[in-house]
Amino acid sequence: MLLLKDRGFVHRLPSEITPQTVFEGRRRLLAGMGAAATLGLRNASAQSATKAVPLASVRSNVLGAITIDKPTPLSDVTSYNNFYEFGTDKSDPARRAHTLKTRPWTVAIEGAVKKPAPIDIDDLLKLAAMEERVYRLRCVEGWSMVIPWVGYSLAELIRRVEPTGNAKFVQFVTLADPAQMPGLSSSVLQWPYVEALRIDEAMHPLTMLAFGLYGQTLPNQNGAPVRLVVPWKYGFKSAKSIVKIRLVEQQPATSWSLAAPEEYGFYSNVNPKVDHPRWSQATERRIGDSDLFAKKRPTLMFNGYEAQVGSLYAGMDLKKHF
Ligand code: MTE
Repeated sequence: MLLLKDRGFVHRLPSEITPQTVFEGRRRLLAGMGAAATLGLRNASAQSATKAVPLASVRSNVLGAITIDKPTPLSDVTSYNNFYEFGTDKSDPARRAHTLKTRPWTVAIEGAVKKPAPIDIDDLLKLAAMEERVYRLRCVEGWSMVIPWVGYSLAELIRRVEPTGNAKFVQFVTLADPAQMPGLSSSVLQWPYVEALRIDEAMHPLTMLAFGLYGQTLPNQNGAPVRLVVPWKYGFKSAKSIVKIRLVEQQPATSWSLAAPEEYGFYSNVNPKVDHPRWSQATERRIGDSDLFAKKRPTLMFNGYEAQVGSLYAGMDLKKHF
């Protein structure tokens, strides 16, 4: 197996990632000079606004007593992204993901289930009542956002296809179409991007199949038309633009642990006590914090969802299963 560094890519240190202040300054400068149009760049929110459709939802009660901070501004949520199929720079997905075609779109459900089926995205949208859930998303790179997602528990879908006793894990396979995704020409990751959860993690009521954010359908750069959101795990577990959900008996491979197994484990639980081999995970920077000198926040165990999910890992050595 080729490691990332052998393929000419090393996941950058958090200190090397474009700081948000620089990134925002660049964006303001471009807007101010009218340079975005000259350079053929398209404004991220304007671009998503052309496609976004309102998505009605009820407020979820799945969160119980979890307190949530103020949501991150929509402009940051839609312009500071990781979606390597469109490039590795934080600004690439907003500039380039307009090439993604989200209709027609089918999600295949297969493997250890009694009722395997391809499901059309518009049927999937109607499968259960849409809920709005404000969840934190914490990236392994040391930043976080608070996002009002729209969707429902993945468990709703899994129950309908009736898993057999052999369904121990759930794998998520995402779209890999070079015609729509310019980033696929890079070997930074193996494509398609794949992720997976243990079946009890997938069935946990907090695990969300998201179709929208901020009351509208997902912008392409955030993983349209459907993505996963697993709020107690590092953001990379939340696979975007899913085309296949496969229930399997053996623990499946996942893109980041294939790329750098010593850095990204299968579980990927947010754990401030387990450092990434090249940097600490103890604190995080909240994207959109208007105070430039705002202190980094302490990262919470399981990203603040310990009371809800801690029992899933009882007895496991979380330093070994990072
Ligand atoms: N899904 C796909 N298909 N491709 C990706 O590159 N990046 C992951 C995850 N899902 C990624 C993906 C990473 S590293 C993060 S942090 C989150 O998406 C970012 O989600 P956001 O851009 O909506 O904040």
